Amino acid sequence: MPGVAIVGAQWGDEGKGKVVDLVAERSDVVIRFQGGNNAGHTIVRRGDVFKLHLIPSGILHAGRICAIGNGVVVNPRVLTEEIDGLKRRGVDTSGLRISANAHLIMPYHLMLDHAGEAKLGKLEIGTTRRGIGPCYADKAARLGIRVQDLLDESILKKKIMTALDPKQQSLRPYAKDPLLDLHAMTEDYRTLGHRLEPYIADTSRIVWETLDRDGLVVYEGAQGALLDIDQGTYPFVTSSNCVAGAACAGAGVGPKDIHEVWGVVKAYQTRVGSGPFPTELHDELADTIRARGGEYGTTTGRPRRCGWLDLVALRYAARINGLTGLVVTKLDVLTGLDTVYVATGYLGSEGATFDEFPYHQSIVHKARGELTALPGWDEDITGARSLDDLPDNARRYLEYVSDFVGVPLAFVGVGPGREEIIATEVVEGLMGAAA
Ligand code: GDP
Ligand code: IMO
Ligand code: MG
Repeated sequence: MPGVAIVGAQWGDEGKGKVVDLVAERSDVVIRFQGGNNAGHTIVRRGDVFKLHLIPSGILHAGRICAIGNGVVVNPRVLTEEIDGLKRRGVDTSGLRISANAHLIMPYHLMLDHAGEAKLGKLEIGTTRRGIGPCYADKAARLGIRVQDLLDESILKKKIMTALDPKQQSLRPYAKDPLLDLHAMTEDYRTLGHRLEPYIADTSRIVWETLDRDGLVVYEGAQGALLDIDQGTYPFVTSSNCVAGAACAGAGVGPKDIHEVWGVVKAYQTRVGSGPFPTELHDELADTIRARGGEYGTTTGRPRRCGWLDLVALRYAARINGLTGLVVTKLDVLTGLDTVYVATGYLGSEGATFDEFPYHQSIVHKARGELTALPGWDEDITGARSLDDLPDNARRYLEYVSDFVGVPLAFVGVGPGREEIIATEVVEGLMGAAA
């Protein structure tokens, strides 16, 4: 006891990295439980920007155990590059652990991701093209190759051969690509395996032992509720479950090992890639928010689509995650607007209205946010360190959001830096329990 899951409550990029880094200061273990290097988690420390794709966002705390759980899909080349990049910047990576059961992204997964998107043409999902979907597909098909397989050359080669066989047809355009050569691939992955070997561990056991001695475990989510493969806006989703419940399967614990679930949400809404977005803005206000919020993908650099905060979707995210705390980030980005809007319902076709997130794809695609106007604020809020420091209208905005979804505030972000944050008694409650 205790464990806290920190998950995205929108379409990703809500600021999870910053929050995990903050909570990691007082935690014993941080474990990522799903996704792969489709994620890009940013931490800004004393002006230095760190963008992490696979390594958990607790790594900047020297010696902190940071585990990549079994539910993550690992591109070993990206991981070794990330380790090297951090080392070059003087970061101690000795706390890194990699689950032997995590699945590996192989060169052919990247090719299949590209080919799949190309085939869809205009209907593309807008994936990060990092091979995430094809890797999870192989995992489900029991053709996956796991981190532990890196340690045995003959097993590795056999498994690659078996996995490649059913893909021959789709991989035909890449037949001459040297990356597909069985021997070269085996050799390459063996070399990467040697590099990663010191970090390979039984990450579930590390978590159990920490919980047994009352340490604090942070389960770090990637992506967000609306990108969840079951609960999100399918098929415009990622290929894993990213709700808090996935922390159980992806880290190897039971539901009772998660005591708090904090959902991270921007004070507005963004999305990268295709798919429905009921509160999307298409005017110059979208450009203003994008520019002020730096809304460009951490992983792919793509401009993020921007819109008003969608409280219908947020209430849904609270439900499917069992949120016990809300983290509202980037409140500072809304400063200076006369009026701030939130969606409190959806308008569908033929005058239909919805106050719950519709389960039917065609309805979500056509839904437009029914907006409620709230008064804005002009004052610079980046120096606020308690809710009382905020202008009345900013505080009222937060109260409105928290009341609407029925979840108390844990943190409020007022700037990108790690110190630009307001922590509430919800945070103190957890940190106190962990002490
Ligand atoms: P993640 O994927 O959820 O970790 O989020 P990203 O790192 O992809 O995107 C969040 C972006 O917002 C990063 O550039 C952060 O540095 C930045 N950020 C986080 N919190 C705040 C905040 O409260 N205010 C501002 N202005 N920026 C923030
Ligand atoms: P973090 O952890 C935002 C989106 C992609 C695409 C869809 C499927 O930084 O919040 P995939 O490559 O996963 O098959 O792409 O999911 N996507 C993200 N969007 N933040 C992320 O991660 C994302 N990871 C995937 O843009 O729409
Ligand atoms: Mg991100």
